[in-house]
Amino acid sequence: SERTYIMVKPDGVQRGLVGNILGRFEQRGFKLIALKLVHATPEHLEQHYIDLKGKSFFPGLIKYMASGPVVAMVWEGLDAVKTGRSMLGATNPLASAPGTIRGDFALAVGRNICHGSDSVDNAEKEIKLWFPEGVVQYTNDNSKWIFE
Ligand code: GTP
Ligand code: MG
Repeated sequence: SERTYIMVKPDGVQRGLVGNILGRFEQRGFKLIALKLVHATPEHLEQHYIDLKGKSFFPGLIKYMASGPVVAMVWEGLDAVKTGRSMLGATNPLASAPGTIRGDFALAVGRNICHGSDSVDNAEKEIKLWFPEGVVQYTNDNSKWIFE
Protein backbone atom coordinates (compact mmCIF):
# COMPACT_ATOMS: atom_id res chain seq x y z
CA SER A 1 0.00 0.00 0.00
CA GLU A 2 0.94 3.69 -0.26
CA ARG A 3 3.76 5.40 1.65
CA THR A 4 4.27 9.01 2.63
CA TYR A 5 7.11 10.99 4.18
CA ILE A 6 6.00 12.97 7.24
CA MET A 7 8.31 15.24 9.23
CA VAL A 8 7.95 17.16 12.48
CA LYS A 9 9.79 20.44 11.85
CA PRO A 10 12.19 22.03 14.39
CA ASP A 11 9.42 24.15 15.97
CA GLY A 12 7.28 21.03 16.50
CA VAL A 13 10.19 19.29 18.23
CA GLN A 14 11.01 22.33 20.40
CA ARG A 15 7.37 22.74 21.41
CA GLY A 16 7.06 19.10 22.49
CA LEU A 17 4.52 18.11 19.84
CA VAL A 18 6.28 14.99 18.54
CA GLY A 19 4.19 12.54 20.57
CA ASN A 20 0.92 14.18 19.64
CA ILE A 21 1.73 14.20 15.92
CA LEU A 22 3.00 10.60 15.94
CA GLY A 23 -0.07 9.56 17.91
CA ARG A 24 -2.45 10.97 15.32
CA PHE A 25 -0.91 8.83 12.57
CA GLU A 26 -0.93 5.74 14.81
CA GLN A 27 -4.54 6.31 15.85
CA ARG A 28 -5.67 6.84 12.27
CA GLY A 29 -4.41 3.35 11.42
CA PHE A 30 -1.18 4.02 9.55
CA LYS A 31 1.80 1.73 9.93
CA LEU A 32 5.13 3.27 11.02
CA ILE A 33 7.94 1.91 8.85
CA ALA A 34 10.78 4.41 9.51
CA LEU A 35 11.59 6.96 12.19
CA LYS A 36 14.57 9.07 13.25
CA LEU A 37 15.56 12.34 14.93
CA VAL A 38 18.01 14.23 12.72
CA HIS A 39 19.59 17.67 12.65
CA ALA A 40 19.72 18.14 8.88
CA THR A 41 22.30 20.25 7.04
CA PRO A 42 21.23 23.22 4.86
CA GLU A 43 22.43 21.27 1.80
CA HIS A 44 20.16 18.32 2.65
CA LEU A 45 17.20 20.63 3.25
CA GLU A 46 17.82 22.48 -0.03
CA GLN A 47 17.55 19.11 -1.72
CA HIS A 48 14.31 18.35 0.13
CA TYR A 49 12.75 21.69 -0.88
CA ILE A 50 14.41 21.83 -4.34
CA ASP A 51 11.05 22.69 -6.03
CA LEU A 52 10.86 25.91 -3.98
CA LYS A 53 14.36 27.17 -4.88
CA GLY A 54 13.99 30.73 -6.17
CA LYS A 55 11.03 31.63 -3.92
CA SER A 56 11.57 34.74 -1.80
CA PHE A 57 11.02 32.75 1.42
CA PHE A 58 13.46 29.95 0.44
CA PRO A 59 16.53 31.18 2.43
CA GLY A 60 14.37 31.73 5.52
CA LEU A 61 12.78 28.30 5.07
CA ILE A 62 16.18 26.57 4.97
CA LYS A 63 17.38 28.52 8.03
CA TYR A 64 14.21 27.56 9.93
CA MET A 65 14.46 23.89 8.96
CA ALA A 66 18.18 23.76 9.88
CA SER A 67 17.63 25.52 13.24
CA GLY A 68 17.20 22.25 15.18
CA PRO A 69 16.48 18.55 14.86
CA VAL A 70 13.46 17.25 12.95
CA VAL A 71 11.62 13.95 13.31
CA ALA A 72 11.67 12.12 9.98
CA MET A 73 9.19 9.29 9.47
CA VAL A 74 7.54 7.11 6.88
CA TRP A 75 3.92 6.02 7.30
CA GLU A 76 2.20 3.40 5.19
CA GLY A 77 -1.49 2.79 4.58
CA LEU A 78 -4.57 3.55 2.52
CA ASP A 79 -4.14 6.76 0.48
CA ALA A 80 -1.28 7.72 2.82
CA VAL A 81 -0.19 10.77 0.80
CA LYS A 82 -3.60 12.41 0.50
CA THR A 83 -4.76 11.47 3.99
CA GLY A 84 -1.45 12.66 5.46
CA ARG A 85 -1.87 16.06 3.80
CA SER A 86 -5.43 16.39 5.08
CA MET A 87 -4.26 15.52 8.61
CA LEU A 88 -1.59 18.27 8.38
CA GLY A 89 -4.05 20.92 7.21
CA ALA A 90 -3.54 23.87 4.86
CA THR A 91 0.03 25.20 4.41
CA ASN A 92 -0.91 28.53 5.99
CA PRO A 93 -2.24 27.82 9.50
CA LEU A 94 -4.57 30.83 9.14
CA ALA A 95 -6.50 28.63 6.70
CA SER A 96 -5.98 25.25 8.43
CA ALA A 97 -9.17 23.71 9.82
CA PRO A 98 -9.35 23.06 13.56
CA GLY A 99 -8.78 19.34 14.07
CA THR A 100 -5.82 19.33 11.70
CA ILE A 101 -2.27 19.41 13.11
CA ARG A 102 -1.56 22.94 11.85
CA GLY A 103 -5.09 24.06 12.68
CA ASP A 104 -4.63 22.90 16.27
CA PHE A 105 -1.03 23.98 16.92
CA ALA A 106 0.18 26.67 14.51
CA LEU A 107 -0.45 30.30 13.56
CA ALA A 108 2.18 31.27 10.98
CA VAL A 109 3.13 29.79 7.58
CA GLY A 110 6.83 30.16 8.43
CA ARG A 111 6.36 28.07 11.63
CA ASN A 112 3.87 25.43 10.57
CA ILE A 113 5.41 22.50 12.53
CA CYS A 114 5.05 19.64 10.07
CA HIS A 115 5.70 18.48 6.52
CA GLY A 116 3.92 15.90 4.39
CA SER A 117 4.67 14.68 0.84
CA ASP A 118 2.36 16.24 -1.75
CA SER A 119 2.38 13.37 -4.30
CA VAL A 120 3.26 9.69 -4.52
CA ASP A 121 6.25 10.58 -6.74
CA ASN A 122 7.57 13.14 -4.26
CA ALA A 123 6.96 10.74 -1.37
CA GLU A 124 9.25 8.21 -3.09
CA LYS A 125 11.95 10.85 -3.64
CA GLU A 126 11.71 12.15 -0.07
CA ILE A 127 11.83 8.66 1.45
CA LYS A 128 15.04 7.95 -0.54
CA LEU A 129 16.53 11.30 0.51
CA TRP A 130 15.81 10.92 4.24
CA PHE A 131 16.16 7.14 4.52
CA PRO A 132 18.89 6.05 2.07
CA GLU A 133 19.38 3.06 4.40
CA GLY A 134 15.81 1.95 3.58
CA VAL A 135 12.68 1.47 5.68
CA VAL A 136 11.91 -1.34 8.13
CA GLN A 137 10.06 -4.44 6.94
CA TYR A 138 7.76 -6.09 9.46
CA THR A 139 4.31 -7.61 9.64
CA ASN A 140 1.56 -5.77 11.41
CA ASP A 141 -1.38 -8.07 11.88
CA ASN A 142 -3.99 -5.38 12.56
CA SER A 143 -4.58 -4.29 8.94
CA LYS A 144 -7.81 -6.31 8.54
CA TRP A 145 -9.26 -4.17 11.36
CA ILE A 146 -8.38 -0.95 9.54
CA PHE A 147 -9.33 -1.48 5.88
CA GLU A 148 -11.29 -4.02 3.83
P1 GTP B 1 5.50 21.22 3.34
O1 GTP B 1 4.69 20.06 3.80
O2 GTP B 1 6.44 21.77 4.37
O3 GTP B 1 6.18 20.94 2.02
O4 GTP B 1 4.44 22.38 3.11
P2 GTP B 1 3.38 22.50 1.93
O5 GTP B 1 3.55 21.40 0.93
O6 GTP B 1 2.05 22.65 2.56
O7 GTP B 1 3.79 23.89 1.27
P3 GTP B 1 4.99 24.17 0.24
O8 GTP B 1 5.66 22.93 -0.17
O9 GTP B 1 4.45 25.08 -0.82
O10 GTP B 1 5.98 25.04 1.14
C1 GTP B 1 6.92 24.42 1.97
C2 GTP B 1 7.07 25.20 3.24
O11 GTP B 1 7.61 26.48 2.96
C3 GTP B 1 5.75 25.50 3.97
O12 GTP B 1 5.30 24.45 4.78
C4 GTP B 1 6.13 26.70 4.80
O13 GTP B 1 6.86 26.32 5.98
C5 GTP B 1 7.09 27.43 3.87
N1 GTP B 1 6.36 28.43 3.11
C6 GTP B 1 5.53 28.24 2.04
N2 GTP B 1 5.03 29.40 1.61
C7 GTP B 1 5.56 30.35 2.42
C8 GTP B 1 5.43 31.78 2.47
O14 GTP B 1 4.73 32.39 1.70
N3 GTP B 1 6.15 32.40 3.46
C9 GTP B 1 6.94 31.74 4.34
N4 GTP B 1 7.61 32.43 5.27
N5 GTP B 1 7.07 30.41 4.31
C10 GTP B 1 6.40 29.73 3.37
MG1 MG C 1 5.36 20.90 0.12
